[in-house]
Amino acid sequence: MLDLLQSAQRLKQDLLEAPVKKSAALRGQAFVNLFFEPSTRTKNSFELAGKYLGADVINFQGKGSSVEKGETLYDTALNLEAMGVDLVVVRHQASGVPEDLARYLSVPVVNAGDGFHEHPTQGLLDLMTVWERNPHLDSLHLVIVGDILHSRVARSDLWGFSAMGARVTLVGPPSLLPTALAVPNVSLTTDFDAALADADVVQVLRIQKERQSMAGMPSVEEYRLRWGLTAARAKQLGPSAVILHPGPQNRGVEIDTPVMADPRAHILGQVENGVAVRMAVLDRLMGGDHE
Ligand code: CP
Repeated sequence: MLDLLQSAQRLKQDLLEAPVKKSAALRGQAFVNLFFEPSTRTKNSFELAGKYLGADVINFQGKGSSVEKGETLYDTALNLEAMGVDLVVVRHQASGVPEDLARYLSVPVVNAGDGFHEHPTQGLLDLMTVWERNPHLDSLHLVIVGDILHSRVARSDLWGFSAMGARVTLVGPPSLLPTALAVPNVSLTTDFDAALADADVVQVLRIQKERQSMAGMPSVEEYRLRWGLTAARAKQLGPSAVILHPGPQNRGVEIDTPVMADPRAHILGQVENGVAVRMAVLDRLMGGDHE
């Protein structure tokens, strides 16, 4: 994992921060962005990452395609593969689709977020954003707050940070926490203030307002009061703390607007690192010659 972060860091310096953001590393190669769920950050950053590396990129949209005539996801992907794409990036509302798709295709499949399961490149970009500021990941305490139960970001961060030796605390309303978790160095609590007391990194998850009608969900007001990273709560954090949010944000619900502008918040830094990490992933899987 560390070598992927180092690769992303070199690509960031060589391409993202260069006056001309173009390499020939993936020239002559093509991939498809197969997104069956909305996305701003992931989809566009995969596209830009591919273009910066010289690949051809197509963005598949279900609307206007033969999916509307009943074509399955698998047949869609097989047809795109037959057209010569060298890799498929997929986001889908159902957990397990990328893994399943990989069994049908002979080209690499990259998970861009599947249901409640995983969002691996988000986990990597979050790791990179923290690692750039503190390379001693094994000394850190990461607090993830929000709808842990339904969050693929929480799951990928949890695996990524705990693999690097960090301690992780998962915080949220009782109805949005798993009942038990048997992972070393990972604990669960509903007490956000207690968890913040020695937090080095706080990842604030989006509260999914579409779930507000679910039984056991707190109201938006109660949520902000108990689990929101308000300006008052952010004062509890130390000067070198790192505040993250994967986006999109509900300002004034899970995070206050002044906190987003706090110098300890690196939310747009996460977005920038999303391009770097996805360049590293594409370069590696498509056999690019940049790295
Ligand atoms: N963080 C994230 O996955 O954002 P998008 O849904 O906009 O891709």
